[in-house]
Amino acid sequence: MHHFDYRNGRLHCEDVALDTIADEVGTPVYVYSSATLRRHARVIAGAFDGMSCLIAYSVKANGNLGVLRTLAEEGCGADVVSGGELMRARRAGIPASRIVFSGVGKTRAEMRLALEEGIHQFNIESAAELAVLAEVAASTGKTAKVAVRVNPDVAAGGHPNISTGKSGDKFGVPWNEARKAYAQIAEIDGVEAVGVDVHIGSQIDDITPMRAAFEKVMGLVRELRQEGHDIQRVDLGGGLAIPYKSTDNPPPPSDYANMIREVTEGLGLEVILEPGRVIAGNAGVLVTEALFVKPGPARNFLMVDAGMNDLMRPALYQAHHDILPLRERPAGDKMRYDIVGPICESTDKFAAERDMPPIEGGDRLAIMSAGAYGAVLSSQYNARPLVPEVLVDGDRYAVIRRRPDFEEMIALESIPDWLS
Ligand code: LLP
Repeated sequence: MHHFDYRNGRLHCEDVALDTIADEVGTPVYVYSSATLRRHARVIAGAFDGMSCLIAYSVKANGNLGVLRTLAEEGCGADVVSGGELMRARRAGIPASRIVFSGVGKTRAEMRLALEEGIHQFNIESAAELAVLAEVAASTGKTAKVAVRVNPDVAAGGHPNISTGKSGDKFGVPWNEARKAYAQIAEIDGVEAVGVDVHIGSQIDDITPMRAAFEKVMGLVRELRQEGHDIQRVDLGGGLAIPYKSTDNPPPPSDYANMIREVTEGLGLEVILEPGRVIAGNAGVLVTEALFVKPGPARNFLMVDAGMNDLMRPALYQAHHDILPLRERPAGDKMRYDIVGPICESTDKFAAERDMPPIEGGDRLAIMSAGAYGAVLSSQYNARPLVPEVLVDGDRYAVIRRRPDFEEMIALESIPDWLS
């Protein structure tokens, strides 16, 4: 469910016509709907009503300060994977007590920052990381509350690039070493075990593997408690799929929540969740303008002014995104296009053999479902300025990241003396 629809033949985000934003800000531009962000945060929180639950929005999906502040107002905490994300979350007003720090490779400096801030929990992914965290915590006179991210050896399905829960993936402590990690925690100063953490992948459209992984985790919680560890929390990660196509039918958050309610029943645990895509994905679009059509012997190329540097998902994961013209077209004649960007890479393609109404240079298009893992993955490749971002709220909108000018793009660079 989202707030992008045609009104009087023009595609709107809430009460604002996307053409109006494109006229003022230019293209390409990301546009986000506050109403969609808020709705998704409320639907997820509502599904867990009555449970002790922390919704730690996964900042990696979309870490813009305006987006984070919107979600902070909805009571979301944050799941961060770097010092930078931690500072973003704090700057947006998310209390440290609602922040969990995940990620396979935290530096000492990041650990120190998180300890000083007083975050809720560190998710630890190896014995080596645990030892370093203990050392850093002890040197600052603090105790780090930790959960060990376990690798349950459950395949989540979906694209292999975003599956994380199989043995052989770099993520988490191998299942048969998990208890040893908790024994290690009990023996060293500076760390205290408070929970167990798991995350098996992203865009998971079936809750069966999630249930399998979570049931294993609850078994581990029971064992750890028997061994004397005071396990009060489980962090069950993110991963719930969203519809990218009208035919996609991901499990509703209520089914996901009911499954979690069942598997955690009677354990008296605080449940932490790290949803990213399910909150931000369908809350954003990338608006682009058609430059021209290049007819080819085999196919017609529709060149647009957005590139894979602005939205990586199709190039990285062969991901499908619906693409809609900003001006509604009558159902009728369709043309078949490869919709491509201006980057010098063959993978710079948003859609292959896509049937669209006839498009001409100057027509604008919205690449849908681009709110998660869109702008955050963008770069200045080919010396293209970072794509701007706009947040809509009802009939108002604001630029929440502006497009840098050329001087800003090169401001961090310098030519060494010996060349001058
Ligand atoms: N927690 C952890 C530990 C994660 O690694 C991730 C995502 C999440 C939470 C949030 O997962 P979500 O609810 O968004 O599925 N760039 C890829 C997705 C990478 C996901 C990485 N980890 C894409 O565009 O599909």
